[in-house]
Amino acid sequence: MAKGLQVAIDGPASAGKSTVAKLVAKKFNYVYCDTGAMYRTVTLAALNKGIDVADHEAVAALAKEITISFKPGEEEQRVFLDGREVTRDIRLPKVAENVSAVAAIPAVRTEMTNQQRQIAAAGGIVMDGRDIGTTVLPDAPVKIFMVATAHERARRRYVENKAKGIDTVSLEELQKAIELRDKKDSTRKVSPLTQAPDAVRLDTTNLTIDEVVDEISKIIKKTADELA
Ligand code: DC
Repeated sequence: MAKGLQVAIDGPASAGKSTVAKLVAKKFNYVYCDTGAMYRTVTLAALNKGIDVADHEAVAALAKEITISFKPGEEEQRVFLDGREVTRDIRLPKVAENVSAVAAIPAVRTEMTNQQRQIAAAGGIVMDGRDIGTTVLPDAPVKIFMVATAHERARRRYVENKAKGIDTVSLEELQKAIELRDKKDSTRKVSPLTQAPDAVRLDTTNLTIDEVVDEISKIIKKTADELA
């Protein structure tokens, strides 16, 4: 059987990347890797240790020291920090508030990028994040850039948080937080959120999850055929 492809899915917060990436991975029997969860885990580790996220050296040293691992779960991918499950903790507001600062530290990005390349090396991977198609896997044969309006993304995250029983702020506040994070992620110096020139742009505002999964599946099949 042919080796699986590397599929890079990038885009702003709550564009539906992880939901779709997970389903696409399942469909093709590929591994799924949520790179945002990796930056969140570094952030959580720093907060747990009382390390100031403005202390770049300390956070970068911590990023090298800790072990981040994944296990497929029923509903979602389970995330572990040094063997302890942190799947829920990395979604806490205190992590969301600090993760952009952590993700902007160049040495943290270098470390995460190296780990992500190792995870993706064997192919058969769907990796989602902000810089996968541009920096982590610039040679990935399938690159998708998923977008949706900030209003729609806030609405989705609101519904998702409620369903998971996570205490959430109002829809308006969520939208503001998403817009702020977009701005921080797109204007940072290292690996800002930008669309790779060879990525396919998918606006998911008015699409169902199944429609997005179908669209990406078609692109993967077509690319696999071309490469075969
Ligand atoms: O996708 P998410 O909301 O879980 O991502 C959390 C943060 O990590 C977000 O502020 C952007 C950052 N991130 C990044 O800089 N590069 C990635 N490849 C993935 C996420």
